Amino acid sequence: MKIIKLASIDSTNKLARSYEPNSVLVASEQTAGVGRFDRAWSSGLGGLWFSIVYNCDRTPTQYTFIASLAVLDVIGIGDIKWPNDIFVNGKKICGILSESIYSGEKCLKVIIGIGLNVSNKLPTELNEVGIRLVDVKSGKYDLDKLLEDIINKFEEYCKMDFNDILALYKEKCFMLGKNVTVKKIDEEISGVAVDIDSDGNLILETDSGSVVVEEGDVTF
Ligand code: BTN
Repeated sequence: MKIIKLASIDSTNKLARSYEPNSVLVASEQTAGVGRFDRAWSSGLGGLWFSIVYNCDRTPTQYTFIASLAVLDVIGIGDIKWPNDIFVNGKKICGILSESIYSGEKCLKVIIGIGLNVSNKLPTELNEVGIRLVDVKSGKYDLDKLLEDIINKFEEYCKMDFNDILALYKEKCFMLGKNVTVKKIDEEISGVAVDIDSDGNLILETDSGSVVVEEGDVTF
């Protein structure tokens, strides 16, 4: 992997569109970091903000699952909130945004953007919902080392069969077996989160039967 280090950039995911697979763009800060559903992602100095540009061998969802496991292994704490969040003590420490880039019908690359709160200052409005690595495991963190370890783990998991990855992901996914509500753009669905299928969809058991949820925000 070729690592490109940047001081300040709008969004590593946006810049990654013009890079070839096997590149990693990492920025000290992002001025317009993006999350799922085009939400703003706070990305001040002290956090780890990077995008891996990778091949199209797997779907964005599969890469999101792989990246979640890689981050969890490296930080050594936390659980997964389907589909793309890592939580510690009920608060979000890491978010992942994976997207495929196409030319017509042809997939050119997948961009896997990872935002990990390390020692960055969280804005006040995120105090209740966000958490940083330094809040849960005190110490001095070397962002370069964290990056290198996550990339190495990511590449290790990429060699594995997706069924094995999915089994590990499910073990770490704390919502399975719980009553949840999934908020989608135009509807809300409540039920028990019973499983995650081989496409990475969440399976809810609702009063009117089993529902396959492809995307949305889960609340408890
Ligand atoms: C989410 O939880 O909604 C996903 C957040 C993803 C944030 C990362 S930070 C690095 C990369 N660049 C971006 O603009 N977004 C991703």
